[in-house]
Amino acid sequence: MIAKRQACVIGWPIDHSRSPLLHGFWLEKYGIPGRYDRIPVRPEDLSDFLHGFRARGLVGGNVTLPHKEAVFRQVTVRDPLTAKLGAVNTLYFEDDTLCGTSTDGYGFVASIEQEVPDFTFSGARVTILGAGGASRSIIGVILEAGAQKISVANRSLARAEQLRSDFGPQVIPMEWGRAEDVLPGTDLLVNTTSLGMAGKAPLTIDLAGLPGHAVVSDIVYVPLTTPLLTAARARNLRTVDGLGMLMHQAVPGFERWFGIRPEVTPELRALLEADIEGRRL
Ligand code: ATR
Repeated sequence: MIAKRQACVIGWPIDHSRSPLLHGFWLEKYGIPGRYDRIPVRPEDLSDFLHGFRARGLVGGNVTLPHKEAVFRQVTVRDPLTAKLGAVNTLYFEDDTLCGTSTDGYGFVASIEQEVPDFTFSGARVTILGAGGASRSIIGVILEAGAQKISVANRSLARAEQLRSDFGPQVIPMEWGRAEDVLPGTDLLVNTTSLGMAGKAPLTIDLAGLPGHAVVSDIVYVPLTTPLLTAARARNLRTVDGLGMLMHQAVPGFERWFGIRPEVTPELRALLEADIEGRRL
């Protein structure tokens, strides 16, 4: 019998994670005798949990709120980009060492590349709303991909200024209310704030200044069509919702744990959309 490889997602709370649905779909699709489970881990139990990771038979896993920064401090980080981010969302073993990496920024870029194939990050002028953890991981990767200029508008200006100190002068911090001023010179607009999420206030920004070729992306995926995306579609702009990033960020972890690089397909999207909309296929 082939031993079952086991991976997990840890968080507190963890009930709402869609990662088991996603990885479960791929395990079945590729006929892999593996498991992927939710494991609730209280912040005070995190250290013990990580020490016992291998003993539980786990080959790796994902990390979600509120553990991304705490796990970063307790595992080995081998890639310079993750070292700069200070947070990890993916755990894996290299020999006997438990390592952490961040795949969120990768997931964002892969999602845009899949959904808007003619968009190129090289030389792009990007405007990002928000300066939290998600914004950080996206900035790190799009700079590596060659973005020319990244304007970051945030409610707390100091957080956007910190991103400039961490990532360099291509990052231009600005006050939240000034975002509309830079829209005429924007090729890609990204919302990384929680505005527009179910239960939160909508994101209200006038998109009139965006050029016709601009792409508008929201990393929020509940609901799938946020007020920002509705406004962009009303202007006939190309849009990318947050589901693509969710699916693509899972690819590198699955490949490390189970040995196959999984594909992001319309079937997978349909499964997650149905779950988000509370339907069963
Ligand atoms: P994440 O890891 O998902 O990025 P986060 O680090 O909590 O989460 O960041 C949330 C982002 O949403 C921040 O940019 C936050 O702005 P502040 O840094 O000023 O807190 C932004 N945000 C949340 N609620 C907001 C609101 N009502 N108006 C504007 N921005 C908001």
